[in-house]
Amino acid sequence: MTGQKLDGILVANTVKDRIRISVEELGKEGIEPCLATILIGEDPASTSYVTSKQKDCADVGIHTKDHRLPQNFSQAELGELIELLNRDKTVHGILVQLPLPKQLDEFEVISKISPVKDVDGLTPFNSGLLASERALLKPCTPSGIMEILDFYKINVAGRHAVIINRSNLVGKPLYHLMLEKDATVTTCHSKTPDLKSFCLDADILVSAVGNRDKFTLTADMVKEDAVVIDVGTSRIAGRVSGDVDYPNVIEKASYVTPVPGGVGPMTRAMLLKNTITAASTSKEIVAHGRESTSP
Ligand code: GUN
Repeated sequence: MTGQKLDGILVANTVKDRIRISVEELGKEGIEPCLATILIGEDPASTSYVTSKQKDCADVGIHTKDHRLPQNFSQAELGELIELLNRDKTVHGILVQLPLPKQLDEFEVISKISPVKDVDGLTPFNSGLLASERALLKPCTPSGIMEILDFYKINVAGRHAVIINRSNLVGKPLYHLMLEKDATVTTCHSKTPDLKSFCLDADILVSAVGNRDKFTLTADMVKEDAVVIDVGTSRIAGRVSGDVDYPNVIEKASYVTPVPGGVGPMTRAMLLKNTITAASTSKEIVAHGRESTSP
């Protein structure tokens, strides 16, 4: 039997509807949520992602500050800009688009972002909280995946989730989110021997390789009725494609996310959600600050 498409655009639109209401409510309290984006260099894919994120914000009423800086921007200059945005009370979220040019140390850069404005959920502070199931701001792609599973009432408890990716952006945080929901989780990567045997054992299979020339997740690698989440994006002859051989895999799986239209829109929606969370938290930080400094 043919599986069902997991429609990321549909789910993202329901999230965006809720966000519009939150923006209105925050407005009544005098808070105008604002996201600052930082893009270093002119990589076409990163430029297009940041432009889309700006458009998404405008679409739901979130303000933006757009910082586009030259490829040779230094670590010190970037540090100063982040410090400035950390102190700017009109900015609630800070996003540094990754990957960064070679001269910049990603860990050092991310670590400079104030954890309360860390809408990517990537600072050491927030990734520590995530591992302890206490994070408010969680990385956008993994939380988008959990949101889409939740929307379609796909239970992960007691099921074997196999994640092909070990990055800080996707694989590691998703491991924690799946574990928190009681899945049995396996992380696979480029040095995993016999990847196919892990894939065939997966009830929930998340593929985030993103190199379609070298890797395709084919139907013979998928267990009957598995849930397949495609996080890969490769540009082939100007077209975006995922890791998964969608037309054949959907004949075997119970659910599959398409590319485009699956995880991508959810990642973008979760950035909006995190910006609202950060803006709401800023209100509590101000209130708490007043309380603790009052005589
Ligand atoms: N590059 C690819 N995905 C992401 C993301 O979710 N956040 C940031 N900051 N950079 C990215």
